[in-house]
Amino acid sequence: MCGIAGYVGKRRVAPLLVDSLKRLEYRGYDSCGIATLDGGKVWIKKDMGKIDDVDGKMDLKNLPGNIGFGHTRWATHGKVSKRNSHPQTDCKDRIAVIHNGIIENFSELKKRLKRKGHRFRSETDTEVIAHLIEDNLRSGLDLEEAVRKSMNSLKGRSAIIVAERGFPGLIAARTGSPLILGVGRDEYFIASDVPAFLNHTRKVMYLDDGEMVVVEGEPRFRNLTDGKGIEKRVITIDWDAKQAEKGEHEHYMIKEILEQKETIMKAINQDEREIRRVANEINKAFGVFLTGCGTAGKVCQTGEYVFSNVANKHVNYVVSSEFPNYRNFLTKKTLLITVSQSGETADVLEAVKAAKEKGVKVISLVNVKGSTLDRVSDITFLIKAGPEKAVASTKATTAQLAILYLLAYACAGKLNEGKKLLLETASKINDMLNPRYEEYIKKLAKKICREKNVYIIGKALNYPMALEGAIKIMEVSYIHAQGFAGGELKHGPIALIEKGSPCIVLTANDGMNNIIGNAMEVRARGGFIIGVGPKRNEVFDYWLKTPDVGLASPIVNIIPVQLLAYHLGVLRGCDIDQPRNLAKSVTVE
Ligand code: AGP
Repeated sequence: MCGIAGYVGKRRVAPLLVDSLKRLEYRGYDSCGIATLDGGKVWIKKDMGKIDDVDGKMDLKNLPGNIGFGHTRWATHGKVSKRNSHPQTDCKDRIAVIHNGIIENFSELKKRLKRKGHRFRSETDTEVIAHLIEDNLRSGLDLEEAVRKSMNSLKGRSAIIVAERGFPGLIAARTGSPLILGVGRDEYFIASDVPAFLNHTRKVMYLDDGEMVVVEGEPRFRNLTDGKGIEKRVITIDWDAKQAEKGEHEHYMIKEILEQKETIMKAINQDEREIRRVANEINKAFGVFLTGCGTAGKVCQTGEYVFSNVANKHVNYVVSSEFPNYRNFLTKKTLLITVSQSGETADVLEAVKAAKEKGVKVISLVNVKGSTLDRVSDITFLIKAGPEKAVASTKATTAQLAILYLLAYACAGKLNEGKKLLLETASKINDMLNPRYEEYIKKLAKKICREKNVYIIGKALNYPMALEGAIKIMEVSYIHAQGFAGGELKHGPIALIEKGSPCIVLTANDGMNNIIGNAMEVRARGGFIIGVGPKRNEVFDYWLKTPDVGLASPIVNIIPVQLLAYHLGVLRGCDIDQPRNLAKSVTVE
């Protein structure tokens, strides 16, 4: 879950890397560092803190050279400290390594290397790689072979970039964690994600699992297992750098919330034949599973209700980290639908692996084209939300929901009806997201921003959105928030309600929503009721109106909660786009 970026070319590398790392900071931001090659030396600067702070303190941009790499960390092995920041080096500081992933067998490797006399200076698993390469070089291998052999000794998921004093380039390799080569004019970029170099080139070459690339002159791709050369195609991606900028907005999160005026429309612009074909597969399958993590998981959970209500079809939602435990239910006739913004979430990839082992067909809803999930799936629907940079997912959520609706309507043989509903929904969201609406939500945020707890309840289609609303509030404002099925409160949680406890109630005109009774139960115990939905009710102390879109209510109801979470976070002085302890792509299990 770290961000890695490298460059080989003619420009001064350090300022370029600082810029790339800032663009990757959403992947991890507890410490950072840069290594450059110049004058036969490996130059390194690193420390705890965000890129701007470390750059301000150490002048990262001042490192010399035209070859180098940088890293922004989300700690897994070893506490957040300067020593544990990347790059990590070998005994003689001759080899520098940056790494994204987890080495599962690092303790054994470390013990073995220590016995051979290697001196370790950090608690990271990454340092093992530098010493392994050193060891392999000592045994007479050249750098390329030493890196290959070292990668083959690692268990788990990893993406690395390696530099060696005297080697006029970089070597990168991946087993599980993402890595992409950006192709410029006589210059090359390597990064965990495309936005790192999007302002320099849109031409990319993807590394697949078990591959390495040697960037010394023309890049050479090789298979990690047998060392054989691999031919790669250059692909031009259609995101532009501007889409990945904040523009006039203070934070990515608000920019991305407001982009929902257009993203639903873009999401539903899918190849209808493909939608119908997949719907047919869903109808034919014996056992359909939906899986994702966090917010994407809540989208899947909503999908369960959508398929049931729209298509009378039973699909099972299983959170990805638990999916491998369901392997006994999988057969060749099962279908797995995965949902992931990044397409790199390790738990989702593990779910896919478990499914593939049983011959299950995998269909994915992904935002990042070329991501691992996109590439390992049998069929991908790109959700077309554009780059989502804020750690808190917003526009990807509603775009994913929209595509699940399309599929469900197609399963019921009513694709046009579904499309019409979604077009209507998109246009109503466009009207809803006006400055006055945001001001009104800001006023509510001011009222409740000092609260310690917020509760959210929903029923049926809106129950998973209550859970999602709680995720949004927690991650952006650090207020403890909890979502419940409306009917569950009286079975325990209602004991928490005190005078003034804010309780958000998601309502809808979908024929299933008798949640007002639950809201009344909370109000009777002193709760402050914030109603979300198309119709005002006397039980509401505050009403956040959403358009009446019938069964599509989850898509519109989550938006005011996203806005509320955002303004709560701003008022509480939180780090909106990079909340503490989190990272955008969770590439570790
Ligand atoms: C969203 O606000 C969260 N930060 C998180 O739950 C996220 O949805 C989850 O990690 C899954 O990510 P993905 O969509 O990239 O797979």
